[in-house]
Amino acid sequence: MSFDLVLRGANLPDGRTGVDIGVKDGLIAAVAPALTGDAGREIDVSGRLVSPPFVDPHFHMDATLSLGLPRLNRSGTLLEGIALWGELKPQLTHEAVIARALAYCDMAVAQGIGAIRSHVDVCDDRLLAVEALLEVKRKVAPYLDLQLVAFPQDGFYRYPNAEANLLRALDMGVDVVGGIPHFERTMADGARSVTRLCEIAAERGLLVDMHCDETDDPLSRHVETLTAETRRLGLAGRVTGSHLTSMHSMDNYYVSKLLPLMAEAGVAAIANPLINIVIQGRHDTYPKRRGMTRVPEMMAAGITVAFGHDCVMDPWYPLGSGDMLDVAHMAVHVGLMTSLDGMRQCFDAVTVNAARILHLDGYGIEPRCKADLVVLQAADPMEAIRLKATRLLVLRRGQVIAETAPRITRLDLPGRPAQVDLNFVPGSIR
Ligand code: FE2
Repeated sequence: MSFDLVLRGANLPDGRTGVDIGVKDGLIAAVAPALTGDAGREIDVSGRLVSPPFVDPHFHMDATLSLGLPRLNRSGTLLEGIALWGELKPQLTHEAVIARALAYCDMAVAQGIGAIRSHVDVCDDRLLAVEALLEVKRKVAPYLDLQLVAFPQDGFYRYPNAEANLLRALDMGVDVVGGIPHFERTMADGARSVTRLCEIAAERGLLVDMHCDETDDPLSRHVETLTAETRRLGLAGRVTGSHLTSMHSMDNYYVSKLLPLMAEAGVAAIANPLINIVIQGRHDTYPKRRGMTRVPEMMAAGITVAFGHDCVMDPWYPLGSGDMLDVAHMAVHVGLMTSLDGMRQCFDAVTVNAARILHLDGYGIEPRCKADLVVLQAADPMEAIRLKATRLLVLRRGQVIAETAPRITRLDLPGRPAQVDLNFVPGSIR
């Protein structure tokens, strides 16, 4: 068999080591030890983790890189962030939204992200951000899969034209139905919005991804309605609850009933660890709640859980760099997931689980999958998270689209080696 490219000696996220990956016509053609046959190009990746690309299943590309415009978020709360975004919205220009989004996509690709699901605010009667991000989606398509969610930021019922705008955005080509039930005026309005939005998705054959219960209120239970509507409308596997932070504060008995219902209905969940840990608990004194949803418990219940970046340098979060290992690293800490299995699950949450939620085709390292790969300066998922490891190579359809030099620091210390080894092998010194 002949290949365009062979990566030699890869470690895979599932624990296989010393594997060759053969690429032909942009697809993975073979995955096996010691592949034979002609190769147009060979790359030695011995001992390096080779992963399918990171997938960010929850982002806001219309707001990204706008930090400081028109001012900073002083309280750090979700509500001030929404108010601040409301001040910025009328000042947005088509060109600036596109330029910021493209700059962010460059960052994301450089750090091995191959797909992003971005919410786009439809509570702007111009639908300026929708038009801009649809253009960005077309522009980045050769190197990044961008999926857009019609997101009624100011409330599906609370904002007068939200329904009309949302439907218009879907007509224009936005892929997924969004929502924000906890921001409606009443719990009842929130529940009604979930029902209506799920019906819109069912009528149009679309996926659903709602900001749901992004509060510290233990009685914010829109996920219950989302679960019931998913079952009623036969939307299993097509609905996601994003954030679900109220679950952190819910009564334990109630959650013991809720999680099996979510699993049965086929509702997935997305936590946003970097954002949840800084937005939630803002109204607490001490102890301050962590606010991230119940990740390990949901995974144990059989629910697909992924992690999103949510925000980078915007009205809600001043930090971030498009690094899904930064996201996974925070999840390990906030979710107390430091066991080996826990860390592997956190790696899955920014790769395969997120890909499943986005319904990505041909994702993975198996024959006939797309040859979209990331080579990391790490031996395994745990080391990748620990070091937020350098993404040495990023490949799209078998072509290298980003390359970063290995991280090497020269040392000048008496009696010590000339170079520090961050890739320390546990147990190597006894
Ligand atoms: Fe969000």
